[in-house]
Amino acid sequence: FAAGPDMSKLKVTKTTTPREKLPAEELVFGANFADHMLEIDWTAAEGWKDPVIRPYGPFDIDPSASCYHYGGVCFEGLKAYIDDDGCARLFRPDMNMARFSRSSTRLGLPDFDQDAVLEGIKELVRLDKDWIPRKPGYSLYLRPTAIATQESLGVGAPSASKLFVITSPVGPYYKSGFAPVRLLADEHHVRAWPGGIGYTKAGGNYAPTVVPQKKANDAGYAQVMWLFGETGQVTEVGTMNMFVLWHNTAGELELVTPPLDDGTILPGVTRDSILHLVRSRGDVKVSEAPFTIYQMIDAIADGRMVEAFGAGTACIVSPIEGFNFKGVDYDIPLSADASKRAGDLTHELAEELMGIQYGRIEGPPGWSV
Ligand code: COI
Repeated sequence: FAAGPDMSKLKVTKTTTPREKLPAEELVFGANFADHMLEIDWTAAEGWKDPVIRPYGPFDIDPSASCYHYGGVCFEGLKAYIDDDGCARLFRPDMNMARFSRSSTRLGLPDFDQDAVLEGIKELVRLDKDWIPRKPGYSLYLRPTAIATQESLGVGAPSASKLFVITSPVGPYYKSGFAPVRLLADEHHVRAWPGGIGYTKAGGNYAPTVVPQKKANDAGYAQVMWLFGETGQVTEVGTMNMFVLWHNTAGELELVTPPLDDGTILPGVTRDSILHLVRSRGDVKVSEAPFTIYQMIDAIADGRMVEAFGAGTACIVSPIEGFNFKGVDYDIPLSADASKRAGDLTHELAEELMGIQYGRIEGPPGWSV
């Protein structure tokens, strides 16, 4: 690990004007923030400065700072949960720290001691534990972010940066349980490409998606299905990893998601967890392999499609009930039990993941911290 920040130097300034907590039912994803934030500055000359936890509030950053001009921004997303004993838990935060380090260093932002930053995040969660809603399906969404702050319009590796963590109480992504979504498969816009930065959580991967997303919404679809290349490889869905459960052409029941090997796919923590959980069941073949939209259409036509879903931290899993491609709508099956509003495996995975995240199910060692 890189040296610093030194968490033994953490200075905590508590708020004297606590923010208003909304009733759980009124929470909108990412719209309200807890009392405190973690802030750690860095300069090339001095390295990591002493970390600070202070009341949530604005920064004083020079308008020339390169994050405002050249997209020197990356972020993470993870959640803190309250278990039945009233303890706060994180889910596989080491994976978020490792990805945060990869995203930062890809953008020329400084590397950091992953254990130290995670300790700072734990301190922040301990301090604002009362902001974790005590209700099933609710959590405190944690948003670590790194920005390039050097005051210069020159394009170059940042000589100054800021790492900060804000937190936001959130409810279940879908208020009334699952809501299966329909996708618009985008033939024109490309989210990521080999050699690009699709494997990072750079802010620059997200800004260009908002217009295609709006077009999909305006056409009556919830999310974009992102494709790549002339063969129509399926890559991701919205801000999530994409999973398909089908009987493959060899007749095997197979759960497939695109592989991480060419850097176009975000290495999701939920993605990795689902692969692990389904592999350990042993009743379904699990593949990290490329597949195309034409293979999905063939599977639907042949009656081999079983279910499909997106997976990410914000919504855990998002059942997919169909998509539009080149003006034609295709349906993807859901469970015969209509009350599930998802495929059977999708539903089981959501229950299992939440069980582990809230500490009700003993997951693999080190997952629930
Ligand atoms: C996720 O957790 O699925 C995300 O990446 C969503 C975030 C960009 C709001």
